Amino acid sequence: MTVGVVMPAAGAGARLGPGVPKALRELAGEPLLVHAVRRLRACPSVGPVVVAAPPDAVGDVQALLTAYDVLVVAGGAERQASVAAGLAALPPQVWLVLVHDAARALVPVEVVEAVVAALLDGAAAAVPVLPVQDTIKRVGIGGEVLETVPREDLRSVQTPQGFRRDVLEEAHRSARGWMTDDAGLVEAAGVTVQTVLGSPDAFKVTTPFDLLVAEAVLRRG
Ligand code: C5P
Repeated sequence: MTVGVVMPAAGAGARLGPGVPKALRELAGEPLLVHAVRRLRACPSVGPVVVAAPPDAVGDVQALLTAYDVLVVAGGAERQASVAAGLAALPPQVWLVLVHDAARALVPVEVVEAVVAALLDGAAAAVPVLPVQDTIKRVGIGGEVLETVPREDLRSVQTPQGFRRDVLEEAHRSARGWMTDDAGLVEAAGVTVQTVLGSPDAFKVTTPFDLLVAEAVLRRG
């Protein structure tokens, strides 16, 4: 079954501070997006790759990625719209879809392959997760603690998130409002989402601190 990738890369990256869109910020001399595409291309099971780029940078991004055989489309104002645009551009032979944030530039091949394996085992949707390390509290608008949330059954969720294409397309079609991940849409449609083990290396580059961590991860190899 052909596995395709949709890579949302159209975010501004405001939390990184002023500058070019996040996916084009440099990490060790190369844009985050190039690192992310290279990681996905290194996965034996990955076929067609579609990148959703900032609408005014589609040509530049396509030029940046000539070596990697990817299709670049214009993303949207919300992550979910960027994913929908990429999904619509995947070729028809793609049956399984991995949605992977360009900002998770250092995802290990093993995590990608674990998601694909869960889909090939019959899951309609699969996401990489890690246990939550911190104690989590719900806080009121005045900053006061409302409750401590037991963390045993909490997980933080990464990408790539994998789906049967028909399941993901239907979830996007029936979406009400914006969700921060695709598994959320599929859950809302009543589909069971399987978890697999993620990796600390698959963290999302969001802040300047994360860029420092990413450089250290790259140096470690
Ligand atoms: O905003 P956040 O960091 O959660 O974004 C996760 C991923 O979604 C990033 O790779 C970002 O480029 C992408 N994104 C997008 N289109 C948007 C907003 C975010 O493709 N409008």
